[in-house]
Amino acid sequence: MIPVFFTSSTGNSETAAKKIATVIGNSQVFDLAKVGVEELTKYDKLIIGTSTWGEGELQDDFEELWDKFADIDFSGKTIALFGLGDQDGYSYNYCDAMGLIYNQVVQNGGNVVGSYFDGDYEFEESIAFKDGKFVGLPLDEDNQSDLTDSRIKSWCEEIKDSF
Ligand SMILES: Cc1cc2nc3c(=O)[nH]c(=O)nc-3n(C[C@H](O)[C@H](O)[C@H](O)COP(=O)(O)O)c2cc1C
Repeated sequence: MIPVFFTSSTGNSETAAKKIATVIGNSQVFDLAKVGVEELTKYDKLIIGTSTWGEGELQDDFEELWDKFADIDFSGKTIALFGLGDQDGYSYNYCDAMGLIYNQVVQNGGNVVGSYFDGDYEFEESIAFKDGKFVGLPLDEDNQSDLTDSRIKSWCEEIKDSF
């Protein structure tokens, strides 16, 4: 079983988490704000996703969990990340939260898989963009909801192999 953890303010990350779980198969969706970050320690392979708020900040629930999250030892774990953001409205901070999470997971020993890029993104800067790719799957329900399903499909195919 591969769990998909999310936090979400308006439901977009939750909807994405459910879609990802369906495509991955043998999966279960958890709201991190409800189950707590300790739940993450139970799995060796996991998917984590949330949205970016403020200007390049963590979503509120994730922010509250951050101190505990930053204490988790991710060594031996394989993690795939997804992020929700608005590349038109927040072009200089697109999906920054995914980048903040990536940096912490890697610092704590985690093996992050599932980097992604396709030519349809239009943004200026993102903490989640490294070496010509995003560190996970960025989704944009505000501007490109029509691309979400196909992005999820191709990303899931890639991470299935990595898992
Ligand atoms: C006040 C506000 C601030 C936002 N800040 C950012 C941001 O800095 N970067 C970004 O990529 N998206 C930003 N967004 C867009 C949200 O991340 C996006 O709407 C997302 O789909 C919300 O997902 P959620 O419902 O799971 O929380 C912001 C949206 C609002 C309303």
